[in-house]
Amino acid sequence: MSIFITFEGGEGCGKSVQAKALYRRLSELDIPVVLTHEPGGTPLGKKIARWLKWAQDTDVSPLAELLLFNRSRAQLVDEVIRPNLEKGKVVICDRYADSTTAYQSYGRGLDLEMVKAINDAATQGLKPNLTVLLDISAEEGLARKKTKRQDRFERENIAFHQRVREGYLKLAVSDPERWLVVDATQPKRKIAEIIWQRVSQLLSTEAD
Ligand code: TMP
Repeated sequence: MSIFITFEGGEGCGKSVQAKALYRRLSELDIPVVLTHEPGGTPLGKKIARWLKWAQDTDVSPLAELLLFNRSRAQLVDEVIRPNLEKGKVVICDRYADSTTAYQSYGRGLDLEMVKAINDAATQGLKPNLTVLLDISAEEGLARKKTKRQDRFERENIAFHQRVREGYLKLAVSDPERWLVVDATQPKRKIAEIIWQRVSQLLSTEAD
């Protein structure tokens, strides 16, 4: 039963908590499942992620960002995502190509078609069966993160984060079969239940 599920959303939306909760629930049911994340997820990806999030001494151009996220992604698809799907597992990925479309195209302003083409090259066209968007306003999401040291993305102005959010919502509207949009201001347990409803539907369709 190979199913590929991704979690997306802006800063402070709580997607990592929900990705982990889904991983635990599937594991408890003895469903073979792997949880990975972007940026990172492989030794190469970790190095790229650290640099992209924390680079201080140098400017990173939007195009360089686009290529570096995709370099990391190409490795993750080859090393982790595709092999585990081929083994019939459920693969959960905390961020994937839609993050690049939202942040580097809608956020940074890179051409949408170019970003999609580069994402497609890096993923070899591998698309998720389900993408969960945890939707929250930029203000509320950032406020949830205020206490931690801020990385390059979190330090961006509010308009950047608003464009990212709008970008995600546009992506979701353009492909409603793949996307599940959840109001991320709801209690964690309620969000987990909404996600579980959709995932269990998917599991039963795949099992038929
Ligand atoms: P995280 O907060 O989920 O660890 O993600 C790291 C940051 O990297 C987050 O601010 C979003 C950003 N990002 C992009 O800008 N493009 C991408 O393709 C990915 C995967 C993350």
